[in-house]
Amino acid sequence: MADLKITWLGHAAFLLEAEKKLLIDPFITGNPKASCIPEDLDPDIIAVTHGHRDHLGDTIEIGARTGCRIISIHEVANYIKSKGVFAEGMNKGGTMDVEGVTLTMTQALHSSSIDASGFSFDGGSPAGFVIGIGGHSIYHAGDTGVFGDMQLIGELYEPEIALLPIGSRFTMGIKEAVKAVELIEPQIVVPMHYNTFDVIRQDPEVFRKAVEAKVDTKVIILEPGEFIEL
Ligand code: NI
Ligand code: MN
Repeated sequence: MADLKITWLGHAAFLLEAEKKLLIDPFITGNPKASCIPEDLDPDIIAVTHGHRDHLGDTIEIGARTGCRIISIHEVANYIKSKGVFAEGMNKGGTMDVEGVTLTMTQALHSSSIDASGFSFDGGSPAGFVIGIGGHSIYHAGDTGVFGDMQLIGELYEPEIALLPIGSRFTMGIKEAVKAVELIEPQIVVPMHYNTFDVIRQDPEVFRKAVEAKVDTKVIILEPGEFIEL
């Protein structure tokens, strides 16, 4: 029996299910490629990489409905709390044990703000997470460009699976994501943050061929709603 199920919900949203259910970046409402509706989701924990609308997404509504734990960088946690929903802040380099799931916050090369009612609130800075769940180590890079310290993330946390953006414009494109795979050296890479909108259109088969020409990492291409089991 699998001890971890990883479902891509579309864009940067993933559901990791082991003893506990962890939801990452639940951008469901307004996501044309979402594979579910927010009401389907009943996580124990939500992790948010940064404040942009396509990542914070439905976090506040799901948190209010379920009472789940919400983890993000300090400034995003403060914003969520200002909306009357409990959230817990952390910061880069640190690790939290949340009901047996470990969350280590990593660097991400991007920006962060919270867009609400025409105002932009300080969203701290963007992050990724290395997640220890069900006996496995998973790296969700968040929105990021490639950076050399991805090698350090690989060395320190040895993620089996890397979830990497390939859409370009706002994040790494295929060329940069292939370099990221070379730096991290995961066993499996799953591309994300592409084809949600026209401006981040990519062919994941091009990514697959480029990765497999360089390293032994296996590329698993999912459709929204599809999952892998470990
Ligand atoms: Ni972003
Ligand atoms: Mn994004």
